[in-house]
Amino acid sequence: MDRAAITGWGHCVPPSVITNDDLASVMDTSDEWITSRSGIKERRISHVENSDMAVVAGSRALAAAGLEPDDIDFLIVATCTGDRQIPSTACLVQAKLGTTKAAAVDINAGCTGFVYGLNIANGVIAAGTARRVLLIGVEKISAYLDFDERSTAVLFGDGAGAVVLEPALGDEGIRSMTVGSDGTLADALTATGAGTEYIGRPEPLRIVMDGREIFRNAVVQMGEAALRAVKDADLDLADVDLLIPHQANIRIIDSIVRRLDLDESKVFTNLHRYGNTSAASIPIALSEALDEGRIAPGSVVLLVAFGAGLTWGATAIRWGDRVEPLGQSDAELPPTELTGLELLIDEQRKKKAEDRARASVL
Ligand SMILES: CC(C)(COP(=O)(O)OP(=O)(O)OC[C@H]1O[C@@H](n2cnc3c(N)ncnc32)[C@H](O)[C@@H]1OP(=O)(O)O)[C@@H](O)C(=O)NCCC(=O)NCCS
Repeated sequence: MDRAAITGWGHCVPPSVITNDDLASVMDTSDEWITSRSGIKERRISHVENSDMAVVAGSRALAAAGLEPDDIDFLIVATCTGDRQIPSTACLVQAKLGTTKAAAVDINAGCTGFVYGLNIANGVIAAGTARRVLLIGVEKISAYLDFDERSTAVLFGDGAGAVVLEPALGDEGIRSMTVGSDGTLADALTATGAGTEYIGRPEPLRIVMDGREIFRNAVVQMGEAALRAVKDADLDLADVDLLIPHQANIRIIDSIVRRLDLDESKVFTNLHRYGNTSAASIPIALSEALDEGRIAPGSVVLLVAFGAGLTWGATAIRWGDRVEPLGQSDAELPPTELTGLELLIDEQRKKKAEDRARASVL
């Protein structure tokens, strides 16, 4: 049975930045509070849709793998903030990217979506039902932020990351995979205002979270999943060359690193620049880690994630010989003159108007 290996990678973050000080100018918060509670300094706000960011990240991953869109036979988009409810964002991406021979599907496992996607990609490659898979994690989570909900509004940002998976040629590839969920904790991290449950109800579109419950569960489940993934790969923690955790909160990451007794030099973080980009966080971090030379031929890379559901997952990957992209894509997002703050204020204004209109007819 073939095992899947990552042969291409890329990411796309929108250009408009919003800093903690920007947020403090429109809501009751401060750079000091956000930095000390989360480690986040700034995040990106998208002026385009999820599918547009996904296409750029996907094009870059295809170029890095030396492939054309038509080489892909299975396209997976991990997202919980897709462009539309129907059809899938994956189908919109397929049309824009021109992967005409690919089956396309979305998966929603919250911030764990990318790791779940790796599991599915590994499975279809092992089963022989697909040879080349494009997996994209993407979120336009700014659309779900609400300035009145300051404990969540400061934590998230937009972006996309992508990988290409193909059958491994040697002993590289996905060496273990563990995923889990606990739906009894669904309300600990949820979005109101979207979905059939909310028809006829006045709740606005926004993320609602029990921060402490999430924090507690994230530390336990990510720690356990990481340990299981290492064990199932017949490795020791000392064999891990780079841990790429879901980029939600530096205090969660520090707790896990302490629990695993890993050297900080073996941990990749970029959340200070992007915040929590949900399903996009690990593929953006993986792509940046490769760009920065943090992954060497044969490196053992441990990915671990946690998210709404609740869901969690981890995978140990042995990298192949190639850590350089085979090619570069010239795909870019359209430019924008708008700052992150201007985009967010505009989005909030439209959402408040919609909320008022909705409440008035109920
Ligand atoms: C959200 C989180 C940062 C809050 O940190 P915390 O230390 O638990 O803070 P608390 O919820 O106890 O709030 C402490 C105070 O800060 C206030 N506060 C909340 N958000 C604030 C903000 N953005 N700015 C300033 N103050 C804020 C609260 O109102 C509270 O004030 P009070 O004591 O007067 O009531 C933290 O719980 C967390 O990171 N949880 C995990 C969230 C996450 O990663 N979710 C995604 C997982 S995929």
